[in-house]
Order: sequence, then structure tokens, then C-alpha cells
Amino acid sequence: MDNFKQRIVYQIWPRSFKDSNDDGIGDLRGIISKLDYIRDLGSDTIWLSPIYATGNKDYGYDIDDYYSINPEYGTMDDFDELLAEIKKRDMELVMDLVANHTSDQHIWFQKALEDPNSPYRDYYIFRKGRTGKNGASLPPNNWLSAFGGSAWQKDETSDEYYLTMFTPNQCDLNWENEKVREGIHDIMRFWLDKGVLGFRMDVINTIAKREGLPPAGKGKKLDFPFEHIVSLPKSHDYIREMHEKVLSHYPHVFTVGEGMVTSIDDLIRYTDPDEKKLNMMFSFDLHLIGCGPLGKFDFRKGYLWSVKEMKEILFNLQLKVQEGGGWIGNFMSNHDQPRQVSRFGDDGPFRRKSAKALALLNMTLRGTPFLYQGEEIGMTNCPFDMEDWRDFEAINDYQVLQDMMHLPKFAAKKIIQKMTRDHARTPVQWSSEKHAGFSTVEPWIKVNPNYTSINVEAELKKENSLIDFYKEIIALRKSSPALVDGYITAVNRPHPYVMAYKRIYNDETLLVVINLSGKNTEISLEEVMTSHWACEIGTYEKRPFEANLPLYPYEALIYRKTQSLDKITK
Ligand code: NOJ
Ligand code: CA
Repeated sequence: MDNFKQRIVYQIWPRSFKDSNDDGIGDLRGIISKLDYIRDLGSDTIWLSPIYATGNKDYGYDIDDYYSINPEYGTMDDFDELLAEIKKRDMELVMDLVANHTSDQHIWFQKALEDPNSPYRDYYIFRKGRTGKNGASLPPNNWLSAFGGSAWQKDETSDEYYLTMFTPNQCDLNWENEKVREGIHDIMRFWLDKGVLGFRMDVINTIAKREGLPPAGKGKKLDFPFEHIVSLPKSHDYIREMHEKVLSHYPHVFTVGEGMVTSIDDLIRYTDPDEKKLNMMFSFDLHLIGCGPLGKFDFRKGYLWSVKEMKEILFNLQLKVQEGGGWIGNFMSNHDQPRQVSRFGDDGPFRRKSAKALALLNMTLRGTPFLYQGEEIGMTNCPFDMEDWRDFEAINDYQVLQDMMHLPKFAAKKIIQKMTRDHARTPVQWSSEKHAGFSTVEPWIKVNPNYTSINVEAELKKENSLIDFYKEIIALRKSSPALVDGYITAVNRPHPYVMAYKRIYNDETLLVVINLSGKNTEISLEEVMTSHWACEIGTYEKRPFEANLPLYPYEALIYRKTQSLDKITK
């Protein structure tokens, strides 16, 4: 069985994980102090969001230098120690590779700005502007950046524009240029040679841009150029080349691609082993439920969705990817998403129950499971005031919602509060001490006030705790070929609230039943009555199998097939 399928990945967003030197900012030594905790959960792989030198315009995803560590987080010696400590625990480290863009402080970009004739100019995407009415200078085209506003910044000295698809400080690289590709390959080799297991690759499906940079959509208003940047044939070529030149030289290398609006077909083409590209890819289909076509701040669907839709999104993705021979990285939350209980479960009375249901879902779907810091204690969204916002996306889109979508301030604020990435970035709640035990001083971002009751120390003391549940479900996954690599088939697919499926590998068959709603309900399981089922895990308690199984709110169960009734009657 492939190594990458067996891994349980724990994502750390370093700025908010644990502060070791009392400056209110998480750091590498903070991570070292919590490695036993992560290992004890059952995780064997850590994905570390960027820790490189950065101006923090996008908290690390704007990289000034890929070969040095952000001094706020520590030194290269600290990094080497972190890696050694991880390996000592039989765990592995996956780094974040941000290869679509560098920051505007990166040496390549600085040289490109300094001298328009330098070879570095062609490392980026510089273009002449258009002339508008009255001779006004307009950006080269109508592309909208992912965080709102024009995707072009003007270099006043040369009177040219450069492309920035995210913050204005993240300059898109020109992947057509072989030197750029070689530069990225070198960065990858540097970290792989140090002993990291692989990479999570940031927006890797947008590295190629359509030749000529044609206008987006109808070409008039600012519009997001999905059709000109997402999964162009050349993105596939560049990733295949990366595999051939770098990845294939490192046995067991681990790769997971991240990318906006990856279609299922593309996900398969990135991850089918015959394609020789990536091990797996994230899909955002679930995370965009209830959002309009422009993404998470597109409020036009009112963020309304039903459990039935959630099930359909998941089954559709799971079954099609299986059929196409691809592989998914499953996740319920990450540093870009609201907290999973607030988004898909209940952050009120059923907080713990819904967190268990979502954990069980994440660990039993086909694909490699990722969990995000704080998920294991059911951290929730945070009640922010506007002055608490730290994320560029939130601050910028607040304005964009007013200017472009003509929303009144109160409505724009409500939308940002619902979906801001800051929810995921509040400090991990370690204890009920001041600042949640994250730091001894005021952290760089607000601590969720519910830390007095929701924290690791309290959770560890609880009976039937969420942390214990994570340990239990991870242990089951690790011992079960059916969960790691089994076939998935839907059971009673039309049911409006309950997601049920089988996972099958040779002699082992498991049946997973999850009530994804906050209501009492019942599901008919007649279609699997031809077998005997023994209850293996239950989030309320273990319950015997019944043809009409009643379920409490967010109750989740796993049954193991013990005998086939066909055989008994023979
Ligand atoms: C995806 C990352 O997860 C997000 O945090 C970042 O802002 C964008 N890519 C741009 O790098
Ligand atoms: Ca610190």
C-alpha cells in the first residue's frame, strides 16, 4: 500500500500554534515543545504552513527568501532541531511550497524592478497598460485578484504593470521562463536534501497563465480569470516536469496540491499515478457550499445549504475520483477556512458531538486525512470586532463588497465575520491560563474568549473527550486497510440527513453511518442486511445494528462486517 495513503497529517499554522519566547507570536521552539502531543494523537506527518522570511502581508505566503527562516519563528538551527525532533518520534515533515508567486521583496523581484533590461524582468509578468478615456493609464486587462481589486500593480518607474493574483505584494512568477522553473526546483531540492518528506503546493493549479493574457469573462468589468489561469494544459506540463526533474529522485516523497476551484477531472489528472505528477490534491467543493461562483465572500446564495447537498458534494467527489483513479487530501478546516464545527456542525450545544461526527467523516472517507490545529479540541469561530481583523483578505474584501457589490457597511461586515480566515488563526487554546496558555503576553491576534472552557488541558481531563476520540478513530484507521485503501460505496444515498457508506478491502468491510444533522432521525439500512454487523465505534455509545437505525443528533457509528448471512443460510 502506498505510503502517502497511510499518513495522518496534522497542519500547523506556526504564527498561532505556540509561543516559546513571550513575544505573542508562535514559533519553531513552540512547535518542538508540543511534538509529543501531536504524536500522541496518532499523527505521523506534520504539514507546516510557510516559515520562510516574509513581510507578513499574507502571513508567510508572501515569501522574501525561500532559503531562510522568518526570524519571528526562529533560526535555521531551530529548524534543523525541529526536523530532528520530528524524525526522532518517527514522524515526518511536509513543507509549504509557494511557487506561484514570490513577495515583492524577493531578490528576483527587486532586481526585476531595478533594471527593466535585467534577465529577472522575465521572471515575472510585466506588461504595458492600456490607455483609457482622456489618456488615463489602465491596467493591461480586467483581471480581478483573488482577494479583490485589480490584479495589476503599477511600477511607476518603468510605467509598466506587474501581475499579482493575491495580495498586491505577491508577484506572480512567469513559469514559461525555464530559469524560474529551475529556481523553484532548486528550492525544492534544498529542503528535500535537508530531509523533509515533501510539499504542500500552494495554488499549484494556477502557475500557467493563458498566452496573451486575454480579458476575463465578458471583458468589461473586473472579473476573475478562472478560464485563463486554472489548470491550463501547461500547469499539468510544469508539474510533470517537476516530478521528473525533482520529485522522482526522492523515494516516498509526499506531495499534495492546493488550488482554487480544481475540477474533479483535473484533480484526477493531477493525482492519477500514471500521470506522474502529485500524490494527492485538495478539493474545495465542500468548503464552498452555500457560496456563490466567486468564492467564499460571494454571498449571493446566502450561505444556505442543506445536509443533503453536503452529502451529494462529498459522494460525487469521492465516487468520481475513485472511478478515475485519483486521490484526495480530505480536510474539514485549514488556515483559510472557518472552524469546522461552526461551518459544518454545531458550535453550540452539540459542539463536541458534531466535532466527533466530522472527525469520523474525515478519517473514514477515501483519501488521506488532514487535521488542522485546534480541530482536535473543537475550537470554534471567534466573535471579532472589526479592529480585531488581521487578514488582508478580510480587510480588503470588506471594501470590495461595498464598492463592487454595493453592500451597506453592516452587511459587508456580517459577511466578513462569517467567513474570515482569522477564525482559523486565533491562537491554539492550550489551557485556561491567561492568553489561553499560548503566550504569556498579548498575542498578535485575538484569543477566542471561549478558551476558559475550550482548551487542551481541560479536554485531556474529560471523559470521552474529543482528543480521546481522535486517538481512537486514528488508531482504527491505521489498523484498517479498508479505511486506508478500501473501495467506497454509498448506502441509502437519498437519505436527507445521514451519510452512510461502506469501505471494502479484501476481507474487511466497514459500514460508516453519520447523522450530519442536529436532529433525531432514523435511517433504513435494509440494503446491507445480507451481512452481520458488529459495532466498532460509536460517538454516543456502541449500538447494535438495526435495519431501521435510530440516530441522535450528530451521532456517528462504524460497524464491522462479521459474517455474510448468505453464507450462514447455505
Ligand atoms: C492559498 C493559501 O492557503 C492562502 O493562505 C494564501 O493566501 C494563498 N494561497 C496565496 O498564497
Ligand atoms: Ca515567539
